[in-house]
Amino acid sequence: AGPCDIYSSGGTPCIAAHSTTRALYNSFSGSLYQVKRGSDGATANIAPLSAGGVANAAAQDSFCAGTTCLITIIYDQSGRGNHLTQAPPGGFKGPEPNGYDSLASATGAPVTLNGQKAYGVFISPGTGYRNNAPSGTAKGDAPQGIAIFDGTHYNSGCCFDYGNAETNSRDTGNGHMEALYFGDNTVWGSGAGSGPWIMADLENGLFSGRGSKNNAGDPTINNRFITAVLKGGPNQWSIRGGNAASGSLSTFYSGARPTASGYNPMSKEGAIILGIGGDNSVGAQGTFYEGVMTSGYPSDATENAVQADIVAAKYATTSLTSGPALTVGSSVSLRATTSGYDTRYLAHTGTTINTQVASSSNRQQASWTVRAGLGNSACYSFESKDTPGSYIRHYNFALQLAANDNSKQFKEDATFCAQAGLNGQGSSIRAWAYPTRFFRHYNNVAYIASNGGVNTFDSATSFSADVTWVVGASLA
Ligand code: AHR
Ligand code: AHR
Ligand code: AHR
Repeated sequence: AGPCDIYSSGGTPCIAAHSTTRALYNSFSGSLYQVKRGSDGATANIAPLSAGGVANAAAQDSFCAGTTCLITIIYDQSGRGNHLTQAPPGGFKGPEPNGYDSLASATGAPVTLNGQKAYGVFISPGTGYRNNAPSGTAKGDAPQGIAIFDGTHYNSGCCFDYGNAETNSRDTGNGHMEALYFGDNTVWGSGAGSGPWIMADLENGLFSGRGSKNNAGDPTINNRFITAVLKGGPNQWSIRGGNAASGSLSTFYSGARPTASGYNPMSKEGAIILGIGGDNSVGAQGTFYEGVMTSGYPSDATENAVQADIVAAKYATTSLTSGPALTVGSSVSLRATTSGYDTRYLAHTGTTINTQVASSSNRQQASWTVRAGLGNSACYSFESKDTPGSYIRHYNFALQLAANDNSKQFKEDATFCAQAGLNGQGSSIRAWAYPTRFFRHYNNVAYIASNGGVNTFDSATSFSADVTWVVGASLA
């Protein structure tokens, strides 16, 4: 049985079931999600390999070959049509046209389930999905339960959430949300240690227990795959969690509603969000693999059975890179492949990263030492040959040369994953934290660019060539 078959047997059926990795009902064989490719704007639906099975990642890979793909729809498997699509603006605007949020790359979060490849939803800051008019979600003080699972991918921005939120994308007051939160934001609540924590976003507050601030019962949890559970009903709620790859769930809080005013009774509105706050705050990052919302307050026993099903799905990591191998410790050059520019190499002038034609005077500036990714060792960082200790990083989507300050932000901004080149040559190099964005030269200056995004340097014209580089021997 799948997670939603188990919730059904427990008397608390799923009223929304979202996953890009697998069917959440034993009999589900419909579409899990939709992708849209950059080359021609065509869309394709991705279904499980068989009823109840793992997503057909190979279908996505062939549809998206040689171009970029975004996840446009995460379908609801419950039959209620509670699909998640690109979130609209609300209290805050997203970065896309008309204030919409960005869509996730279809390839930012590869995993395997029982050895079969699938893709999660990698949420970068600015990315969000929403449904402001769903059917059957909890309203007011009605009970609901939700479960999600994430990786070690988080930040302190507001707010990497999944669950119940406002139907107008604005902050309408305390108690108007009941969504799972994952990250290390400490503006409102926090738990034991330095985070990240599973908390409840109840609007104008992330709660780790009954009190509004620190609750030591909520532990730091940072397994590569985590199961996170939040459930709430009239004057009772609970946070539970555990390692999604093994073992059982623990209860981090179970008891009465918060003492702060406005949270008892609750005023849930019933919209569904993923990756953002209730008011469309878009500062957070995280990875979503699967999540459900139920009708009714699930029993611990039901959730424990769901956890066993998740463990049996055997989520595991897989390679984040493809194409020509990069060797950690080697020194390389990166040559542009755009016709008319293919004698230029990725180089730096002071802190600016650009492309330059090689000459006797710039070989050092155009040479890079490949390091294990400072923010994720499954990818790479590029250390300057002539300025050891300084690395290529992105800042406001421009590439810069900067000294490693050892912050989490720097390390993540300096981490890049190589894949087969989009134009069929060499390699394309995407930002780990923004997998829709690749090393690109534009007017001979280097950026991390998305295919047809809002910035001038995101131009779709010549995109595939501009983001493809031949990685060769170091010039110095
Ligand atoms: O509760 C935390 C956040 O506060 C909510 O997600 C958002 O709507 C508000 O800014
Ligand atoms: O380059 C995008 C973001 O810009 C970086 O992640 C951050 O450091 C800066 O604000
Ligand atoms: O970087 C050189 C060129 O500038 C790129 O190929 C093009 O996209 C832009 O006009």
